[in-house]
Amino acid sequence: MVNKIKVKNLSCYYNKQCVLNSLNINILQHEILSIIGPANSGKTTFLRTLNRMNDLNVNYSRKGEIYLDNNNIFFMNMESLRKRIGMLFEMPIPLPMSIYDNIVYAPKLLNIVSNKSDQDAMVEKVLKNVSLWNEVKDRLNSSAMKISGGQQQRLCIARILAINPEVILFDEPCSGLDPISTAKVEESMIRLKQKYTIVLVTNNVKQASRVSDKTAFFLMGKLIEINETGKLFISPQKKQTGDYITGRFG
Ligand SMILES: Nc1ncnc2c1ncn2[C@@H]1O[C@H](COP(=O)(O)OP(=O)(O)O)[C@@H](O)[C@H]1O
Ligand SMILES: [Mg+2]
Repeated sequence: MVNKIKVKNLSCYYNKQCVLNSLNINILQHEILSIIGPANSGKTTFLRTLNRMNDLNVNYSRKGEIYLDNNNIFFMNMESLRKRIGMLFEMPIPLPMSIYDNIVYAPKLLNIVSNKSDQDAMVEKVLKNVSLWNEVKDRLNSSAMKISGGQQQRLCIARILAINPEVILFDEPCSGLDPISTAKVEESMIRLKQKYTIVLVTNNVKQASRVSDKTAFFLMGKLIEINETGKLFISPQKKQTGDYITGRFG
């Protein structure tokens, strides 16, 4: 398998305080890597660093390198990086416009689609990709604020797909969702990995074991362990990992 992202000796700081310490991680193309760990382990900081979301924060600094297909992301043009690495936040909120317009908004700005029939085709395709098409196809022009929280979450994933990224970052995407909505988001992720590379931060260790190929355990800014998901859950190499996945702390 092809290496998609290579993280080399990455350390991150807020106000000079180290919150991620000398991280080395390789992420393969078309795999789902889950990142688990207690609050304040640096999981979100890691995701935000992967698409340079923290660059404008004057209190933030970093050392080390991240490569996307062997190109250093810190030398890349920001717009092309964000097109290639999309991010879904914890509480995704649709834009206050129709379901249809939510999806075509960014692609129009970026000139990815021009005519109406291309837009229609794209809307249908990305909604099918997140299993939302059948639920909303008869009300594409009604407000996105009126659909359920789980549907909004999948709509926000569809919006990212519309930009056609290579990597998608998910930060605790199911933390506010009920089990049925969670299962639908998980199904979408498993389907999406055929085309995309996915990094999933989750506070739900069962979710990591259900959907991911590899799992990394972060604790207080350190990568304690990373392995194939089955192996990490069946025979963790570090005591802290075992304690965390069996719920003994966290
Ligand atoms: N914008 C910020 N400014 C200052 N400190 C921050 C900021 N964001 C996160 N931190 C701190 O960095 C550490 C890691 O946070 P975070 O990456 O959000 O961890 P996690 O997502 O694992 O909960 C925590 O101690 C948190 O308080
Ligand atoms: Mg977080």
